[in-house]
Amino acid sequence: MAYLLSIVITALIASSIVAGENLLSCGQANYYPSQYTCFDDNFLCPIVNGDRYVRCGPACYSAKQYSCATTTLQPISAGAQNCSATLFDPTEYVCLDGYYLCAVNNGTATFRCGEECYDPSKFGCAIGQLYPIGTTPPTCVSEYGDPNYCNYNGCNEAPCCAGLWDSADKCRPF
Ligand SMILES: *[C@@H]1O[C@H](CO)[C@@H](O)[C@H](O)[C@H]1NC(C)=O
Ligand SMILES: *[C@@H]1O[C@H](CO)[C@@H](O)[C@H](O)[C@H]1NC(C)=O
Repeated sequence: MAYLLSIVITALIASSIVAGENLLSCGQANYYPSQYTCFDDNFLCPIVNGDRYVRCGPACYSAKQYSCATTTLQPISAGAQNCSATLFDPTEYVCLDGYYLCAVNNGTATFRCGEECYDPSKFGCAIGQLYPIGTTPPTCVSEYGDPNYCNYNGCNEAPCCAGLWDSADKCRPF
């Protein structure tokens, strides 16, 4: 009986963690942002014991142990690497998409969203736009946002929201 009870309590605690959390989509998959990070709008990496894994081509890795300057993982203990043409210290930066550097702040990697780096504990990234965790990811670009963005999949143009059109790299009112 005690065993059964502990299973029930564990189940309640597990479900209470995600209660109220929005189930988001990442390509064809659904995920909870407390458990996964969506990279490039279509690739999920898990958060393992608080360690937010990072995308490396078709794999995910722990930035506490590895770095990914190409498509091959290197131990961070191996020292500086080239991220495209820039030499970087893998204890201070992550190399994303093979050429884009984002800082590791206080042991936690920041990630790329378009042409900026963000703290994934505070923001998500969809269609090259940042949005606060806990809010609905954008499906269109709001006024004066930049609809053009690049990621692992190449460069794309996101749709402007209703009433706006892409003019000189911004979504502007008609
Ligand atoms: C980084 O690239 C430069 C220029 O190609 C090269 O000389 C250097 O050896 C590379 N460093 C590493 C650690 O791969
Ligand atoms: C760094 O992380 C530690 C542990 O999570 C935290 O206590 C500390 O406040 C952080 N420092 C900064 C500057 O964010």
